[in-house]
Amino acid sequence: MCGIAGCIGSPDAGKILIDALKRLEYRGYDSAGITLGGKKLHTVKTAGKVAALEAKLLSSGYKGTRGIAHTRWATHGIPSEANAHPHLTEDGTISVVHNGIIENHQQLRAELEKKGHVFRSETDSEVIPHLLEESGESDPLAAALYAFGRLKGSFASAVLFEKYPDQMICACHGSPLVLGLGDGMNLAASDMLALAPYVSRIVVLHDGEAARITANSAELFTISGAKSIQLREEPVPGEARNADKNGYEHFMLKEIMEQPEALEHAFAGRMNGDRGVPTFPEFGLSPRETARISRIVTAACGSSMHAGLTGQYYFEDIAGIAASVEQAAEFRYRNPILEPDTLVLAVSQSGETADTIAAVREAVAKGAYTVGVCNVPDSTIARESDCRIYLHAGPEQSVASTKAFTSQVTTLLLFSLFLGRNRRLSRDDGLALMREAERIPDLVREVLKHADEIRDLARKYAWAEDLFYIGRGCLYPAALEGALKLKEISYVHAEGCHSAELKHGPIALLDEKVPVIALANRIPGQEKMLGNIRECLARNAPVIAVVSGNDTCLDSFGVDLIRVPESSRFTAPVSTVVALQLFAYYFACERGCAIDQPRNLAKSVTVE
Ligand code: F6R
Repeated sequence: MCGIAGCIGSPDAGKILIDALKRLEYRGYDSAGITLGGKKLHTVKTAGKVAALEAKLLSSGYKGTRGIAHTRWATHGIPSEANAHPHLTEDGTISVVHNGIIENHQQLRAELEKKGHVFRSETDSEVIPHLLEESGESDPLAAALYAFGRLKGSFASAVLFEKYPDQMICACHGSPLVLGLGDGMNLAASDMLALAPYVSRIVVLHDGEAARITANSAELFTISGAKSIQLREEPVPGEARNADKNGYEHFMLKEIMEQPEALEHAFAGRMNGDRGVPTFPEFGLSPRETARISRIVTAACGSSMHAGLTGQYYFEDIAGIAASVEQAAEFRYRNPILEPDTLVLAVSQSGETADTIAAVREAVAKGAYTVGVCNVPDSTIARESDCRIYLHAGPEQSVASTKAFTSQVTTLLLFSLFLGRNRRLSRDDGLALMREAERIPDLVREVLKHADEIRDLARKYAWAEDLFYIGRGCLYPAALEGALKLKEISYVHAEGCHSAELKHGPIALLDEKVPVIALANRIPGQEKMLGNIRECLARNAPVIAVVSGNDTCLDSFGVDLIRVPESSRFTAPVSTVVALQLFAYYFACERGCAIDQPRNLAKSVTVE
């Protein structure tokens, strides 16, 4: 939920850390802070974004060869300078940044206050510097192992000690942390994107691990037991180096536009052979075990849940397997019934969503076979699931998910084909569906060619304060996703609704001030959708309809049209959502909204 970064061994650690924070700002951006160390530790904090911190740091004149920094998404306490990280001991000699939630912070705070420690913030994180001080250990690693060993919940953290200028200590459990190893300078951050420009190799820390880093060395240890672990060095992935806006005004537009290539990656290595069976070598079940799967339960949140809802249609229609989708938090707390032949899918772009992680743990504890469908390699969900299917969509930096969503839907389509061919789906039907699926990147290219027309329409309707999105069949989840995109970046109320459900209540809200975006593609159920559009028009609601190719079915309705290419009901959700992403993007731009960093949101939701 927050972004942390640390640096040791640079002549200008402040510059590197500010740059790293800018790359981490998608994780939270309501306040920020930095501690730099020369002989002494100097800390600068501010409410607001990293740009405000940068200005404050410049005017302070502080420089350092080592430092830690933080960009925050508030959980405990309002966004303010006092609650911004780093947090320090009262004498200012130990400084800590933290991402995660410390569940036993109240109990620890009471214990520390009794011992005379004075707290200055409302945050859970502030217990860490006090615990470090309280440890009584003279070695910084030993002090850190004591402090982190006392925490319950999740943390990724970096610590500087004034007394030990040659080292920085990091640790994580349940929140991501990556070390970056450079030449005479080592770094740490919540995401390798922040490190990639500066280092040649990375080490992804696993849960329960701590690291002692100097300018020229890095050592790994277990938090419980202080056992030394071998460093798992790997080169920085190429995609992490290519994480700029590439000339686009916003990451969101860049990520929308790069979807054809991202989707091609979803197919890479999967479409071999002429048997109509996509390849999923990472799926660990034997053909016999696969044939026995009786039910698929998908746990996910937000856009990933909408991708899961689309997958539900695929699993039932293509694979012939009963499927359901659970909001991940509900899955966790509802005590779900999982039979031995139930397959549990956890769909998550980041692989770090707290509720989805908890759902995976619940499913594993109940003995279900779990599959993490993730974009971020080596993320917690990927690691904790029995098998992981990666999207290969490349880093997604805009808070609003775009290419990850379409890659999730495409991957679930291919996975349903794989499962279907393992069961009743014939070779010919499998091949036909594969050919249809392979069109997806080109279908999306075609939609993107019409970006200017969609922009004009978005501008025309940017006055609206309430909108409905209606769809049915495979396009029902697309309506939910379209509405989510609009509300999260434009702050306008948008509601996704099954078109048949409209007249069971929501239609009461329609009038000339409430536009309806109707997904009227030429797929089964289109006739019914046309009837639903008539119902909206009869209440004077302006209608914008998505239609397939040159379909003339709405010509006499006098409504605005967004044309997407003719496609099957299975591929239409991808091309249609791309059109809705563009609509949301241009609508929010027209209203002057902060596209990549919408208010109150953060990219990965690591709290329940
Ligand atoms: C919406 C969006 C969120 C995420 C949700 C789950 O644009 O990005 O709704 O989809 O927070 O995140 P992941 O997929 O990382 O589990």
